[in-house]
Amino acid sequence: MSVKIGIIGSGNVGSAISRGLSKAGYESRMSNEENVNEVVSGAEIIVLAVPFGAIDDVVKKMGDKANGKIVIDATNALTSEMKLALGFTTSGAEELQKKLTKAKVVKAFNTVFAQHMDSGKLNGQTLTAFAASDDEVARNKVLELLRAIGFDAVNAGGLENARHLESLGFLNIQLGYVLGNGTSTGFKYVR
Ligand SMILES: NC(=O)c1ccc[n+]([C@@H]2O[C@H](COP(=O)([O-])OP(=O)(O)OC[C@H]3O[C@@H](n4cnc5c(N)ncnc54)[C@H](OP(=O)(O)O)[C@@H]3O)[C@@H](O)[C@H]2O)c1
Repeated sequence: MSVKIGIIGSGNVGSAISRGLSKAGYESRMSNEENVNEVVSGAEIIVLAVPFGAIDDVVKKMGDKANGKIVIDATNALTSEMKLALGFTTSGAEELQKKLTKAKVVKAFNTVFAQHMDSGKLNGQTLTAFAASDDEVARNKVLELLRAIGFDAVNAGGLENARHLESLGFLNIQLGYVLGNGTSTGFKYVR
């Protein structure tokens, strides 16, 4: 039986993850701003693909429907001035876990440009995607999902490491947009 995945947001990231999941044989549904609660209710795994500033509203819309479920946080914790909003002592994902105390938050996807999220590939090479969570079972499920899409999936440990993944996501944006390397770029963890 296929895993049902509810994607909150249908923009660059939401639609790319939806395509990747569909190619990998997962069943997914994207939300709009009105039906977040309904999409989360019918899902086993939830992906947050909304702007960082929309998280509180989305948490409110989800109510208790995310309880007991995996919530993949794909957001980059950015201010409206495109600066890193948090770091060093906490992360967007850790703050999300505090709001969704009964869900299993996993940080993933945020270090990759949306253009490559449906395949995990760039110029014939496999990109790395990390997953960090305090729940090992949830983290392993997300690693499996990343692998199914086509990424080289790497265990990034506990949710505290989301601080570094969010910094890495920020560096990706700096390299791609600010320093002019473009979005046909990405990270590969060689080992
Ligand atoms: N783009 C990238 O390459 C990339 C890479 C890694 C991580 N990220 C992160 O992923 C997240 C999404 O980025 P994106 O590029 O996909 O943004 P986007 O194209 O602007 O899409 C955002 C989506 O969130 C929805 N949304 C906004 N506020 C909402 C709310 N209050 N309730 C429900 N849905 C809401 C939007 O719906 P409407 O269109 O109806 O407003 C839209 O479908 C961001 O946190 C970003 O930092 C992006």
